[in-house]
Amino acid sequence: MTNPGLEGVVVADTRISEVDGERGRLVIAGAEVERLAAASTFEGAARAVLAAGGGDSTSFDDAAFGAARAAAWELVPRLGDALDHADGMDALRTALAHLRAEAGDPGDRAAALAAIGAAPVVVAAWSRRRAGQPAVAPDPALGHAADYLRMTLGRPGDAASVRALDAYLVTVIDHAMSASTFTARVIASTASDLVSALVGAVGALKGPLHGGAPGPVLDMLDAIGAPDRAESWLLGELAAGRRIMGMGHRVYRVRDPRAAVLEEAVRPLASPRLALARAVERAAAKILGDRKPDRPLAANVEFYTAVLLDAVGLPREQFSSTFAVSRIAGWSAHVLEQRRTGRLIRPASRYVGAMP
Ligand code: COA
Repeated sequence: MTNPGLEGVVVADTRISEVDGERGRLVIAGAEVERLAAASTFEGAARAVLAAGGGDSTSFDDAAFGAARAAAWELVPRLGDALDHADGMDALRTALAHLRAEAGDPGDRAAALAAIGAAPVVVAAWSRRRAGQPAVAPDPALGHAADYLRMTLGRPGDAASVRALDAYLVTVIDHAMSASTFTARVIASTASDLVSALVGAVGALKGPLHGGAPGPVLDMLDAIGAPDRAESWLLGELAAGRRIMGMGHRVYRVRDPRAAVLEEAVRPLASPRLALARAVERAAAKILGDRKPDRPLAANVEFYTAVLLDAVGLPREQFSSTFAVSRIAGWSAHVLEQRRTGRLIRPASRYVGAMP
């Protein structure tokens, strides 16, 4: 039995996003993910989810995100050894914990903006330190995606890469009651502060069953190397009792719609890995389909995340924290919404231990 008593239980009403796992449909703040990714910047999508969660959208204009990145830069010298963590998610978790927040309004909105601005600055600074390079200051006049890429690479990214990264940040901004979002909402539901909720959510996202998969997907593509080696490599993994990263989903029973959005977004970048990824996905879907005819296991968002983030020039160690750079807006929206409409979330457990 899996998660007795919790599987599929509705723990909140939300206006932020909806996942239809049977039909492979994702709606974010009233828009299909495909349309949002094609039409919106990260800032626009963040504004939409925050407004849906109950934040006043006028607090979140484009300039506010730039100003929040600039404010976060002031924080970098005061982060102690946060950026020395070997793992980018540990660095982000520790750095976010330095933010100050007062629970309630307007403290929540201010803390949300501070955290959304801090994430790209901190993650890029961590990545540069890992590479033995100095951190790059944000440019508040740039878009969020362009500035994040610039702070990471130490030079401006080309327009196609910025567009692809922006499409990625929009695509993963929210996904209903994912494990990390649930974590954030549980913490918010106790009337704790927004920063605590975000720190907890980063911890939940870190795991390879949630946001930690795209690095291993790239490792898999490297290990396979050529399409004709896919089948034997995948069979070897399964024989060793391991799961195929980037395949399967708790909710989707068809291909994750975000996989198609990201596959399309990465196309203009002419990544040499794209053809290999498609071949590996085909082989994995067939093998898993043969093994588990009753449990559809198709590509999830992480499969083409790996190809896209690699193609724009981010190191694979930075993939999970890049997910957080986007999702932090969704988490913040859920905290605002939980505050407005929710009550203490207190699920039950079933006692199966010894009786006195
Ligand atoms: N590779 C191989 N087998 C898989 C699999 C995968 N990626 N995903 C699920 N399965 C198998 C399970 O082993 C299980 O088999 P069993 O019944 O013989 O034990 C069966 O399919 C059902 O899986 P279940 O554990 O119920 O799925 P879940 O809903 O708990 O898991 C994921 C969902 C995402 C955790 C899971 O598909 C997975 O681990 N995927 C790989 C990691 C990944 O890509 N994570 C990113 C998610 S966006």
